[in-house]
Amino acid sequence: MAKPIRFLHISDSHWASDAIAPGIDPKSRFDQLCAWIAAIRDPIDFIIHTGDWVHRGQLDDDLGHSTDQAWDRLQKLRLPILTAVGNHDHRKVLSQRLIDSLPAGWNIRLLDCDEGRLAYWFAVGNEFFLVLDARASQQIDPRGELCAKQLAAVTRLLADPDRHWTVFLHYPPIELDCEWIDRTMLIENGHQLHEILVPCSHRIRGVFFGHVHRPVCCLKDSILYASSGSPTMHFPNMPSNTQAIVQSDPIALANYICIRDGVTLVKTQWTMLSHSPSDQDPKL
Ligand SMILES: [Fe+2]
Repeated sequence: MAKPIRFLHISDSHWASDAIAPGIDPKSRFDQLCAWIAAIRDPIDFIIHTGDWVHRGQLDDDLGHSTDQAWDRLQKLRLPILTAVGNHDHRKVLSQRLIDSLPAGWNIRLLDCDEGRLAYWFAVGNEFFLVLDARASQQIDPRGELCAKQLAAVTRLLADPDRHWTVFLHYPPIELDCEWIDRTMLIENGHQLHEILVPCSHRIRGVFFGHVHRPVCCLKDSILYASSGSPTMHFPNMPSNTQAIVQSDPIALANYICIRDGVTLVKTQWTMLSHSPSDQDPKL
């Protein structure tokens, strides 16, 4: 019997040194999430962050300092950290931090894709993990698009009939029955990824994403799709919701995921947050 793989899926920390909206101090919230993770006594083989580490990393004047601050904080937990790139991230600094901090014995293999994108795969035990980068042009942000090279590389990787795969990426590849999310937040060619996955659905453990800031799960053509919520802010996702209203509920969300005996278990976890003084001092 293969050893179970257990990992923590977090996302959308939107780290910033100042409050970004009333009741939302991302720095304090991320610190509290990290403290909660540090207190977990159950096994965690690695942490995967599916993007939007920081709030302003995509801006031209961002030098990557906030990305460094957030990474440094999480790295103190002394667990292997893997990451996907979100639309708010400083892709270059994030990519470098990933490569520089991999523990001994951990290797990632980069996928052939459009210049600058961070797509790769890695193995833990007998399980294989694929991280995709759907961040495309500023013109379609906050939607994403997978480049043709990346989709071709995924097709080649999945051809091996003996490998089971877990997929991570920032944006949802499928519709989520919410007006504003389905209109503005999806991967434009997510259906192409889904069509690649379906023929080998029996070898796909799950597709895990962020971007929507709440935990959502969906089974489509025998493929499990599931998101992690955010520690920092939450968005409405009911069918009739037509816009992204920032919600400051004092709760930090994460998924504890276990792959064992051919079963994928997703346990949504949370910690209740205390407010910090800077919550009331937004600098938007
Ligand atoms: Fe986000």
